[in-house]
Amino acid sequence: MSERTYCLITFGCQMNEADSERIDGILLANGWRKIDSENDADLVLFNTCVVRQGAEDRALARLARLKPLKRANPEKLVAICGCLAQQDGRRLLETMPWVDLVLGTRALPRLAPLLDEAIATGAPQVCVDLDGDPCEIPDPPRRAPDLVARVNIILGCNKNCSYCVVPTTRGRELSRPWPKILEEVRVAAAGGRKEVLLIGQNVNSYRDGEVRLPELMAKVDAVPGVERIRTITSHPRDAGEGQFRAMAELPRVCESLHLPAQSGSTRVLRRMYRGYSRERYLKKVEQLRSFVPDATLTTDLIAGFPGETDEDFEQTLSLVREARFDSAFMFLYSPRRGTAAAQWPDDVPLEVKKERLARLIDLQEAISREKNRALEGRRFEVLVERSAKRPAGHLSGRTRGDKTVVFPGGMEMVGKTIKVEIVDSNGHTLFGRMA
Ligand code: SAH
Ligand code: SF4
Ligand code: F3S
Repeated sequence: MSERTYCLITFGCQMNEADSERIDGILLANGWRKIDSENDADLVLFNTCVVRQGAEDRALARLARLKPLKRANPEKLVAICGCLAQQDGRRLLETMPWVDLVLGTRALPRLAPLLDEAIATGAPQVCVDLDGDPCEIPDPPRRAPDLVARVNIILGCNKNCSYCVVPTTRGRELSRPWPKILEEVRVAAAGGRKEVLLIGQNVNSYRDGEVRLPELMAKVDAVPGVERIRTITSHPRDAGEGQFRAMAELPRVCESLHLPAQSGSTRVLRRMYRGYSRERYLKKVEQLRSFVPDATLTTDLIAGFPGETDEDFEQTLSLVREARFDSAFMFLYSPRRGTAAAQWPDDVPLEVKKERLARLIDLQEAISREKNRALEGRRFEVLVERSAKRPAGHLSGRTRGDKTVVFPGGMEMVGKTIKVEIVDSNGHTLFGRMA
């Protein structure tokens, strides 16, 4: 039998990135070979995101391109995984009857058997059960040569922020047993991964018996071969001293934190069901900086939430000025089916939303540039990740503070940690030379 090939297209966040590695692991273990071309592949999988309408539209547009390919070659298999699969389930088959497999976010252990079933019967298969641990796949090989191991510590989310679809697509919170997490970290480190990214929608709610996030970080810190540890995402309500102290005291835990603020207006935050005020958020930032003065701080912000007034938005701008984020992901509010906020009038006109977003981006970019400029002349330990896209002969790596550094050097340095002196910068990248 000739070798079967697959192509995997991934959208969305770290959870999907991690799940895609698992999909690779399952398929490679079942005799599939990975290729880049969705035209040539026997099986095309889409690992999808629906967090905003734009993300959902991108996934649907990409899927639509498969329809003529499938018509030309009915043997070709198409699978939808991830959050779109979880959100719409069997309904996807009404608009896309040519799809062979719909696999929800916690159904990955069913991937191989359901694929076999689809091949044997020719009938589409659907599994969107939300119970169980999708990480329970025996020894999924990880894809090389990434230096970062994304390790799920907690699945799902119990927060129910009023705008957010994730609790529906990822289910209830489930903390994974810490011995399993450590085992995954050990295997990853032994396989050459240098950086461990502990991931979850809210890593601060991690709990397995007496082990909470700070204790878990200490355990991971002690695994031989691990050079760097980060977590993503922290929730401002739950993040605090334990985690900040771990960042300050554990040698491998890096000095960067992603702490999504969403808004700078207490009134809006209340209607987002975020569980903190503007003042409480800023207190957390102050507390972080009292433990780790140089910590890189990044955030997520939403412009144009229902009912957001000019005054509310000014509060977001002023929060950005006060917190001085290193960078931010900034979004237009996008109503999502089934969320609380989707039932409220989406009353900020699109033009106003866009104008606010543009002002927000301008302000943040100016701060990003200033903060990076202040690093010029300093030296940092850079973990070299890859050759830079440009200029030629340059490498790209990251500091412990998660800043990207581009500098001249040869490929033999990839995977090594070296001292680099920063000589230039813009808002996104530092430029340096080996110190
Ligand atoms: N668990 C993380 C990430 C959630 S999704 C957290 O709590 O922060 C990533 C980001 O997408 C969110 O932080 C938020 O800024 C943005 N987002 C989520 N739903 C959105 C919506 N309906 N409209 C616009 N942005 C949204
Ligand atoms: Fe969504 Fe809020 Fe959960 Fe983050 S904490 S995933 S924004 S519900
Ligand atoms: Fe998107 Fe699902 Fe992640 S909706 S942001 S891929 S949890």
